[in-house]
Amino acid sequence: MKVEVEILEDVASLQAHALGEVVRALREAVAARGRASLALSGGSTPKGLYQRLAQERSLPWANVHLFFGDERHVPPDHPDSNYRMAREALLDPLFAEGLLPQANVHRVEAELSADQAASRYETVLRDFFGQEVPAFDLILLGMGPDGHTASLFPHTQGLEERTRWVIANPVAKLATERITFTYPVLDAAREVAFLVAGAEKAEPLAQVLTSKTAEVSDYPSKGVRPAGRLVFLVDKAAAAKL
Ligand code: 6PG
Repeated sequence: MKVEVEILEDVASLQAHALGEVVRALREAVAARGRASLALSGGSTPKGLYQRLAQERSLPWANVHLFFGDERHVPPDHPDSNYRMAREALLDPLFAEGLLPQANVHRVEAELSADQAASRYETVLRDFFGQEVPAFDLILLGMGPDGHTASLFPHTQGLEERTRWVIANPVAKLATERITFTYPVLDAAREVAFLVAGAEKAEPLAQVLTSKTAEVSDYPSKGVRPAGRLVFLVDKAAAAKL
């Protein structure tokens, strides 16, 4: 598996570059297969990307389906909700312009129990993709300072899941459960793009990209090995130890 690393000047440049990657992937998917499936990441880094993406009015939004790679176990209007962040930055502007059908947005029902939300979301994936492991056209991921990605945190049981596609992953250090894609789904993607910015990511990024000894259990981002393209879009601050 070849890992591409693009180092951008700063987080704004990273988000602008990521926009180009997302627009290209969506256009290619719709042209090739009549529809595109994009899984959004949570956190703060992608927010500027989503705000830029909301301006791309010429994209074939009627054929673009949006999913969430993970979700906090909170209602959709909670300040911590990844859906809420995406709704404010991307979905509401597209809905307001009548560009994106509401039915194209596949939300994790995180207001339910975490187990119910996970199993219902797996059904959403099976309804959309069929019974084969979903091959998302593009999955956007972030990386935490501890090397987690999606909600696959170090030393959590979710790292061991190789059958289910979506699980409720207890995260002891956060005293919560998170709903998350598992490695099989991340690895089945046609493309995976990590967006990593900030000096606090320099150490984990070096462990993930260059260390020969770092363990996946310590740095879960290292366990993402897609059959398709894997690219890390990073800013100079995060790349400081590469
Ligand atoms: C979440 C994300 C998580 C995020 C990283 C990086 O639910 O928080 O899915 O995996 O991508 O924590 O977040 P930042 O981009 O805010 O640093």
